[in-house]
Amino acid sequence: MKRIIVTGASGFVAGSVICQAGPEWEVHAFSQKPAPFQREGLIWHQHGPLAELLQPGELERRFREIQPDAVIHIAAIPDIDYCEQHPDVADEVNVNYTIALAEMCRQQKVRMVFTSTDTVFDGNKGHYAETDPPAPVNHYGHTKLRAERAVADRLEDFCIARLAIVMGLRFYGQGNSFLCRLRDTLESGREASVPAEEIRSPVDVVTAGRALLELAGNTFQGIIHLAGNDRLSRLDFSRMIAGRLGYPPERVVAATAADIPGRARRPRDASLDNSTARSALKTPMRGLLDGLELVLSTERMKDER
Ligand SMILES: NC(=O)c1ccc[n+]([C@@H]2O[C@H](COP(=O)([O-])OP(=O)(O)OC[C@H]3O[C@@H](n4cnc5c(N)ncnc54)[C@H](OP(=O)(O)O)[C@@H]3O)[C@@H](O)[C@H]2O)c1
Repeated sequence: MKRIIVTGASGFVAGSVICQAGPEWEVHAFSQKPAPFQREGLIWHQHGPLAELLQPGELERRFREIQPDAVIHIAAIPDIDYCEQHPDVADEVNVNYTIALAEMCRQQKVRMVFTSTDTVFDGNKGHYAETDPPAPVNHYGHTKLRAERAVADRLEDFCIARLAIVMGLRFYGQGNSFLCRLRDTLESGREASVPAEEIRSPVDVVTAGRALLELAGNTFQGIIHLAGNDRLSRLDFSRMIAGRLGYPPERVVAATAADIPGRARRPRDASLDNSTARSALKTPMRGLLDGLELVLSTERMKDER
């Protein structure tokens, strides 16, 4: 059995990683929240505020105790508008936590998989390959790019997995799922307004979780884009999802960014080229509707248990 640390364990993407980790993994979940459930092979380490965890010696003590084979660092503040308004908090969580973990991984020769984002790109080109130069347009993107560089500068055995917008239902907890928000809005009979001009390549949360586990266990080095096979506007994919969930697609209406008060700048076309993932990983990358079927079938399996 190999030991893995998963940070930000109560979040949306981490939920998929933790729930899908097979018996080959002993999972050490780092979270500020209490364990949502218990399972063999899952050891939940509830920690205090980040400032406490980053005190000298604190992470080192935990690493020495656990002796991990790999770390999947998922914890972050992914709320783009919050990061823009609270740059110091965003720096602490998104950059300083990553630096501290990368430093531990360097000292103790542990493989690190870091979850980054399509928002490191400026969105002028679209269909970005791993070799395209990043140029963030908001503070969140800057924090994730600085964190990427901190990982790449310190480590030899690392993978930076840039996630496209992640589509799916939560395995547990209250994490950041746009699909849950969209479904709740439509279920309540309201219209959902979605920016029409932004193009993305959504990856489903089940596939993202499987790919991150595969990357923790393999020897892939460097940057990899975890994205779906389709490039679509947020309006189009939200309407496709609404239709599949049984709601009238026209209840999803077009908004422009200017209509949304306090919204930080976003890249226009941040779609990612997923050809590296399709060739390097056993986990198949999927199109939007195929990914949605996988998400819904996973939800049905949970309901039946
Ligand atoms: N969702 C997307 O569409 C998307 C797209 C691209 C990239 N990503 C990246 O994927 C990762 C996961 O995103 P997500 O959507 O799963 O977000 P999420 O549901 O908000 O989960 C992030 C987790 O980070 C931890 N965290 C937040 N603030 C913290 C703080 N002040 N101190 C310590 N830990 C803190 C929390 O975990 P605990 O409560 O367990 O401590 C939180 O649940 C992030 O690195 C994000 O940048 C996400």
